[in-house]
Amino acid sequence: MIIEPDKAVELIRKGEVVAIPTETVYGLAADAGNAIAVKQTFKLKGRPPDNPLIVHLSDIKQISRFTNEQPFELPKLVKEFWPGPLTVILHKKSSVLDVVTGGLNTVALRMPDHEITREILDQTGPVTAPSANRSGRPSPTRPQHVLDDFGEDLPVVDGGTCKIGLESTVLDLTSDPYVILRPGQISAQQISGCIGRKITIQQSVDKNTPKSPGTRYTHYKPNAKVNWFDENQQVVPESALYIFHTTTPPEEASNSVQYDGDYSALARDLYDLYRTADQKKWDRIFIEPLPDPESDFILPALQNRIERSVSR
Ligand code: TXA
Ligand code: MG
Repeated sequence: MIIEPDKAVELIRKGEVVAIPTETVYGLAADAGNAIAVKQTFKLKGRPPDNPLIVHLSDIKQISRFTNEQPFELPKLVKEFWPGPLTVILHKKSSVLDVVTGGLNTVALRMPDHEITREILDQTGPVTAPSANRSGRPSPTRPQHVLDDFGEDLPVVDGGTCKIGLESTVLDLTSDPYVILRPGQISAQQISGCIGRKITIQQSVDKNTPKSPGTRYTHYKPNAKVNWFDENQQVVPESALYIFHTTTPPEEASNSVQYDGDYSALARDLYDLYRTADQKKWDRIFIEPLPDPESDFILPALQNRIERSVSR
C-alpha cells in the first residue's frame, strides 16, 4: 500500500519494514539499530544472511556511529559524491549489529540523494536498505515493482520513478589498493579524479571467498531468458523483447525499443523493461551488445547488470 512519508517515519520507529525511494532503486528500509527489524528485511526478501546490507545515512555526522576509520580520502569522496550513488566500505565499530554486516568486520555506508527519503531519515536516523525486490529478481525502480514482488500490504513511499535505475557504486576503502566491488553511475574515473589514485573495478570473483558476498548470488534476473542480440541471428522469435541502442531493430522484431545512444535512459529503464517483459509473458529478451565501456560513464554498470542476467 502507498503511505505518506510521516507514516513511514512512524513505522520505521516501531521496528517495521517500509519501502523507500532512492535515486538508484527502491530500498526496503529498517532501523539499522533494531536487529529484529533488520532480520525482517532478510526474511521478506528471502536473502541469505551472509549477504550484508548498506546503511543509509542522512547526515555525515552519522558516519562515526558506524566506524572509527577516517581514511584521508573519505572527506573528499563524501564532499564530492554525497548525497549520491556511492557506497563506501569501511571497518566497522564493534557496536554495529552483526545482522547488518552479515558477520563481516566491515560496514557499507551511503547517503541517498532523494529528498523525501532524506527527510524520512532525518527523523528516523540510519536505516539498512537492500533493494526492495525479492532475492534474485530485478531491483525495483517504481512503487508498483515493489508491490508486484511483496503484495499490496507492504508499505511503500511513492517517490516516483528512480532517476538512475541501477544500484550504487560500491567502493571498498578497506582494501589496498581501493577497489570497486560493484560498478554504478559514479565511475572509476570520477573516483580516481577525486582522490588522485587509480581505481579499478574488481573483475574476477572468487566464488568461495568473494569480498562482496552479494556478487556470489544470482541477481537481476527476469523470468524471460536474456541474451545478447546476435546480428547474424537467423530466427527472430515473436514473443521476445528487443532492446537496441545503435542499430535499427530488424523489421520482424515486433516488440522493440531503440535508445539511440542514450545509455543513461537505458540504465534507468532496464529493470522496468525486464519486469514488463515478464508481465507480457515474453519469454526472451535480446539486447544489442554494448560499445566499449570507456565511451560512456554508465556503461560499466550497465554491462555488469546485463551480463549477470544473461542466460547461459
Ligand atoms: O543503490 C543501492 O545501493 C540500493 C539502494 C536501495 O540504496 N541498495 C542496494 O542494496 O543495492 P543491496 O542490498 O541490494 O546491495 C548491496 C550490495 C550487495 O552486493 C552486498 O553484498 C554489498 O552491497 N555489501 C554490503 N555490505 C558490504 C560489506 N561490508 N562488504 C562488501 N560488500 C558489501
Ligand atoms: Mg539488491
